Parts: sequence; structure tokens; C-alpha cells
Amino acid sequence: MYPQTRLRRLRSSSVLRDMVRETRLEVSDLIAPLFVVPGQGVAREISSMPGQFNLSVDTATEKAVTFFEKGIRSVLLFAIPEFKDDIGSSAWHPKGIIPQAIQSIKKAVPEMMVVTDLCFCEYTSHGHCGVMHDGKLCNDETLPNLLKQALVHAEAGADMIAPSGMLDGTIGFLRHGLDENNFAHVPLMSYAAKFASSFYGPFRDAVQSAPEYGDRKTYQMDPANIREALREVELDVQEGADIVMVKPALAFLDVIKAVKDTFQMPTAAYNVSGEYAMVKAAAKLGWLDEKRVMLESLTSIKRAGADIIITYFAEAFAELRKRGEA
Ligand code: PBG
Repeated sequence: MYPQTRLRRLRSSSVLRDMVRETRLEVSDLIAPLFVVPGQGVAREISSMPGQFNLSVDTATEKAVTFFEKGIRSVLLFAIPEFKDDIGSSAWHPKGIIPQAIQSIKKAVPEMMVVTDLCFCEYTSHGHCGVMHDGKLCNDETLPNLLKQALVHAEAGADMIAPSGMLDGTIGFLRHGLDENNFAHVPLMSYAAKFASSFYGPFRDAVQSAPEYGDRKTYQMDPANIREALREVELDVQEGADIVMVKPALAFLDVIKAVKDTFQMPTAAYNVSGEYAMVKAAAKLGWLDEKRVMLESLTSIKRAGADIIITYFAEAFAELRKRGEA
């Protein structure tokens, strides 16, 4: 009780503040997304995500090398394919963009953990996450296609697969299929509680995956629901997920905490494109201190319970850490 207890005493110097800091962000917590596109020598900045690029396999590989030199040891790959059709068949082409990128990155930096996003929205002409009939996403018809895509990724050498489509039964179906095909060692990081969020806007520009009609509300979750999020995670844990993810991160810190407290699973959070774009835009206008807002956001995501953070700020944070400024 005051005046004997004065919590300000331990805030009086940076040495003390460093000693009593409860949450420490590490570069090893982070996964950096990469957007791979057809072509050669391509490095096209994504207008709504300053500092993030559409890269061809060669430039994406160079980027992965740079990441690794800065201490980033994991990337998450997304693709814009050569062609799109109504079922997204280019997603399981063995020589598609993602298999090429996996092989090229693993060759250049064998220690880099290459994770692949597993979904159909980038590959379908309509931009929905699987097979459509009468304007509806068909769950059970999409699962075998997801497995075909997962096997192509695994065969190309993906170290981990991250299904992001929010279809029922995905994790069990993939786990079984991967195990049967000698890929029992490939972990699944499930986008277990993925919300139908407006924060994905810039990403959909980046990979041209905005749905042509309708929205994703029949498969992604209502942002109002936390109990349902826990049911989603519970099912994925039962079906064999190795890591469970909450997405987006900052507006869903309570969900991250509830997931971690309830399941004690390795937990990931996706600090998504809109969260990145907001900080970049405000910083450009001089309204926010980009570096400090970034550090505060990432630290808060970790404090909420995330072990792993997927973030477009990975490289910026790694650079600050390297320079001893964070
Ligand atoms: C689906 C997918 C999306 C993101 C990651 N995987 C978009 C969506 O569901 O529409 C969003 C990532 C971000 O906004 O940074 N393949």
C-alpha cells in the first residue's frame, strides 16, 4: 500500500525497466509473408502496402536470402498464379509458382523454414476459396482439391502448410492425406479462428483475390464471436493441428488470449495487411511514430499469448534489432 509500495520505483531507469519487462519480442517469433508472381526480375511495390512487393521466384529468393541474413528464419508464401479458372486448378500444378518458389528458396537458404498458405482464393476466377455451385462455396468438394495442393507443396519441400480457407474438416482431411502420402512429418499451422475481416483489404489488392461476387461470411467467422472461435480451435486441435492461428491480430487480442489460455497450444497470430497499412499511412502523414507503434503492436500481440507472429513488419523489426534499436 502507498506510500510503502511505489510501483514507479521500478520504472526509474532503463536498466530496471529492461529487467522487469514481462514480454520480449524476438526475431525468431516472426514469420515474414512473401507474394510471389510469374515472371523474372519482378519487384513491384504493392500500392496499399508500402515496403511490400510482388516478387518473381528469383527476386523472392533474393529477398529470402536478405531476410535470413537479418535473422528471419521463416517465410510464408502466397502466389499469384499464371492463370485462374473456376476451381483453381493451377494451385496443384507441380511446376506452379509456389512449388518453384519453395524449391528455389530452399536451394538458396536450406535453413529457411518455408511455410505455404493453402487456399484457393488466389487461384479461382471468382476469387472464392474453393469450388462454387449456385453461388455457394462447396465444402466437401473443395477438400480433395486442398489435399492435391497440399501434396504439391509438400513434394516441393514445404516445411509447414498453413490452410487458410476456413472450410469445415480441413485439418483432419489434410492430416490424414499427408500421412498416407509419407508426409507425416509436415506440420499443419491452421488458420483456426479466421474472421471475415475488413482488415484484409490491402492483401486482396496484393494477390488480386477479392471475391468477384458475394463475400466470405459463409466460411470466415463473424468478428463478434469468441465462443465460436474457441469451438473452431477445439475442432482443429482434435483434427491434428500442430499450431493454431488467430487472424487478424490487433482487433482480436482477446481471442488470442482465450485460445492460448484454453488450449495451451502453440499459438500464432496474423498481423494482417490492413493493420500494416494503417500504421504506414498514418506514419506517412506524420501522425504516428511508425517504429514505436510497430514495437508496441507486436509486443502486445505477443503479450496476449501469441508464440508466433506473422507480420509484414518482420524485416523492419529485424533491422532494428540488428542495430540494437529494439
Ligand atoms: C486467404 C488469405 C487471406 C489472407 C491470408 N490468407 C485473405 C482473405 O481471406 O481474404 C489475408 C492476409 C492479410 O490481410 O495480410 N488465402
